[in-house]
Amino acid sequence: MSQLLTPVRIGRVVAPNRVLMAPMTRSRASEGGVVGDMTVTYYAQRAGAGLLITEGVFPSAWGKGYVNTPGIETEEQVAAWKKVTEAVHARGGRIFMQLMHCGRVSHPSLLNGQTPVAPSAIKPEGQAWTPVGQVDFETPRELNLEEIAGVVDDYRQATRRAIEAGFDGVELHAASGYLPEQFLSSGSNQRTDLYGGSVENRARFVLDVLDAMASEAGADRVGIKISPEMNYNSITDAAPEETYTYLVGQLREWNLAYLHVALFGNPAVDYHALLRPLFNGTYLIGSGLTQESAEKLLQDKKADAAVFGAPFLANPDLPERFRVGAELNAPDRSTFFAPPTAKGYIDYPALVPAEVY
Ligand SMILES: Cc1cc2nc3c(=O)[nH]c(=O)nc-3n(C[C@H](O)[C@H](O)[C@H](O)COP(=O)(O)O)c2cc1C
Repeated sequence: MSQLLTPVRIGRVVAPNRVLMAPMTRSRASEGGVVGDMTVTYYAQRAGAGLLITEGVFPSAWGKGYVNTPGIETEEQVAAWKKVTEAVHARGGRIFMQLMHCGRVSHPSLLNGQTPVAPSAIKPEGQAWTPVGQVDFETPRELNLEEIAGVVDDYRQATRRAIEAGFDGVELHAASGYLPEQFLSSGSNQRTDLYGGSVENRARFVLDVLDAMASEAGADRVGIKISPEMNYNSITDAAPEETYTYLVGQLREWNLAYLHVALFGNPAVDYHALLRPLFNGTYLIGSGLTQESAEKLLQDKKADAAVFGAPFLANPDLPERFRVGAELNAPDRSTFFAPPTAKGYIDYPALVPAEVY
């Protein structure tokens, strides 16, 4: 029997199936970080997911790292997100907001001329996606202790606003080389104070932020995403096995909604085998999954639910397609991050033509 289409508890939520939608940046918000009606339609079309996780959303303007990404800082942003949660709930769905602070993976042109911030002043390789196209990253400014407390508080307030906007929970984006992973990883964190050096110190920022988020939402409405050894956005760590063993071990008693582990490439360590026994809550696996591989992971008890990115982007009714064994639409990469246009966003066909939202 299919495990993917059975219910599962995810913190305070009961998901009717284990086919979850991964957080995916789509760069279709206004310049001011406000989502529009197309975004309401996009998430409402996908409400059949066991759980929807939004694109990365900046908790405060300092956290923005890509052109046309949304925020959850101003009244206007909150009001716009409220339309999304109402539409998803009206269609029987559940939705978490992913909080994403990009740290050094940004550019002054996205930050009103300010220098991006990071644990240490170490420039990442590569380029930022800005209003004027791709531009080389710059050397970030090191956050001082007072500013770190301020950023933690930004996550706290963003969590409060996300709950106000009707979200069922929030996910901390601690993957893909953004600010939380910049603190976690030795290559981007060379601090000598209580936020750098030992693994206990490098993990402190992530734990402080989770604590702040849990204090607003309740731990059972907070999830975390990690991606050990993804090596994206120039992130490197001298001893990732030790880093993630420590971090996940610390989370054990928190009763978080979930731990989401996305692995890319072929890490030397089998992180799922390593981390799952360390965590006592709902364990989500994502990245590169197909219906068959996800089903096998669940049958083998390697995860509690499966997270789909590109397949969900291209198939608004993915769980239904799995149920009936339908063909999948292929994702069109050229429209992943298009300027605000419906093409490749809300025009992927469903098996049964959708109502108009
Ligand atoms: C267009 C696109 C945008 C993405 N943006 C985000 C993001 O904002 N936050 C995040 O945690 N991961 C992001 N990801 C990664 C996905 O969440 C997921 O981990 C990845 O796509 C692997 O899953 P898949 O093979 O099923 O697509 C993005 C992926 C895609 C394809």
